[in-house]
Amino acid sequence: MSDGGFAIAIDGPASSGKGTVARLVAMELDFAYIDSGAMYRAVALFGARHGLSLSDGPALARLIQKMDFTFGFEDGRFTLVVDGKDISRAIRTQKVGQGASMVAKLPQVRGALLGTQRGLATSQGVVMDGRDIGTVVLPDAQLKVFLDADLGVRARRRYAELVERGVEVGYEDVKSELAARDAQDAGREHAPLAQADDAIVLDSTQMTPEQVTQRVIQLARDRGAF
Ligand code: DC
Repeated sequence: MSDGGFAIAIDGPASSGKGTVARLVAMELDFAYIDSGAMYRAVALFGARHGLSLSDGPALARLIQKMDFTFGFEDGRFTLVVDGKDISRAIRTQKVGQGASMVAKLPQVRGALLGTQRGLATSQGVVMDGRDIGTVVLPDAQLKVFLDADLGVRARRRYAELVERGVEVGYEDVKSELAARDAQDAGREHAPLAQADDAIVLDSTQMTPEQVTQRVIQLARDRGAF
């Protein structure tokens, strides 16, 4: 758990901007940043590399027990190192994203990652983003934000991001992939994407990442984060 430090939980659907906002908030407050989605992505990547089926919960859970996750900050960017390898870039493909959504459905995988996620949140201040941070991982977080935005706007953001990285995709495909992933994440039985009762809902459809960040920082200040 957050161990007396100030914890900020940011949940929301894919491409709602939560990662960008969580990073900016962490940098501005000098808090640790834990990207829980990156952990599911790492499990999908390592599972595939080990030749495991992405629907084999017990085997993936055994793999997770042997994985060592280290979140860091280097040369101005947040990194995830697993078993000594920086996989920050390798996990950002559409394929790994789809695999992550598959493994995230499995209770054995969620259970195996839960302790690690809580253990990583023991620093004085932490921002953690995902789908179930306010509801399951850090239910005692001092500030919970649920960040949403229209599907069309999220798809345009994601499309622009992929085009900038040189990935050849069509906007309609990006939009339907996002909608499918949202449905899978929100409709699953275990720890679905959900808003905590005590979460503050922010809709970023008409807001810039900087505006959302300042709003979150203001909320954190109001609650005594600094
Ligand atoms: O945020 P992201 O797109 O990197 O997340 C990848 C997948 O992991 C996403 O489809 C849902 C899942 N996920 C989850 O189930 N619980 C979390 N706390 C974070 C991500």
